[in-house]
Amino acid sequence: MKKKLIAGNWKMNGSLAANELLIRHLLSGLGEPSCDVAVCVPFVYLAQCQGLLAGSAIALGAQDISCHDAGAYTGEIAPAMLKEFGLRYAIVGHSERRQYHGESDETVALKAQKALGCGMTPIVCVGETLSEREAGKTEEVVKRQLAAVIHANGHCISEVVVAYEPVWAIGTGLSATAEQAQHVHAVLRAQLKAATPHADRIKLLYGGSMNAVNASELLAQPDIDGGLIGGAALKAQDFLTIIAAAISC
Ligand code: PGA
Repeated sequence: MKKKLIAGNWKMNGSLAANELLIRHLLSGLGEPSCDVAVCVPFVYLAQCQGLLAGSAIALGAQDISCHDAGAYTGEIAPAMLKEFGLRYAIVGHSERRQYHGESDETVALKAQKALGCGMTPIVCVGETLSEREAGKTEEVVKRQLAAVIHANGHCISEVVVAYEPVWAIGTGLSATAEQAQHVHAVLRAQLKAATPHADRIKLLYGGSMNAVNASELLAQPDIDGGLIGGAALKAQDFLTIIAAAISC
């Protein structure tokens, strides 16, 4: 059976002191988990977290990646730079990047390509806004977002992780129900099946107010292979509870 993946997205949170406390708490509670675990931290803390996580079962990820290799792109971080910190994952196309930084489907697809080219696994985020859901456009939106990534990445598509994150559920405490999430995951799985014979091994994560209470039900769905966790990933005990839920279902 495919191992589930629980990935924390710390967003723009943390400090040297808080990160150390959080990671030490996680490591002491984790043991040898039979699921994959990662934390995606702010760029400036990659070196610190690489040191704290060395030799542990927690993989390191970034929250973004440049779609350029090098050069005059002030403020950007190149794929090869990230690779130097032993990164396993890079989140691409998070809705906060799409919304506040104007990232298009094409840019997101290129970022996924750059991550793959450096041997990192892109965690490709897709998801509809509340108005898109209310207009009955959920499937159309997530399929369009995923299609751009499939189109740009060809046969490598089986190497990506996809995170379905309904925008209206992110940071709002208003999670999608297990049925709503499973429905969209099944749509995404079917789209991936049409693109690759290896679609079953692609991990489809759910993200959007997943927490210590609702994780078990969400993670029990047949097409939900893990979670991308924001707020609850900043609380060690909650994150550990979500990991335990992933292991037990
Ligand atoms: P949330 O964030 O768990 O705080 O809703 C999830 C995400 O944005 O990845």
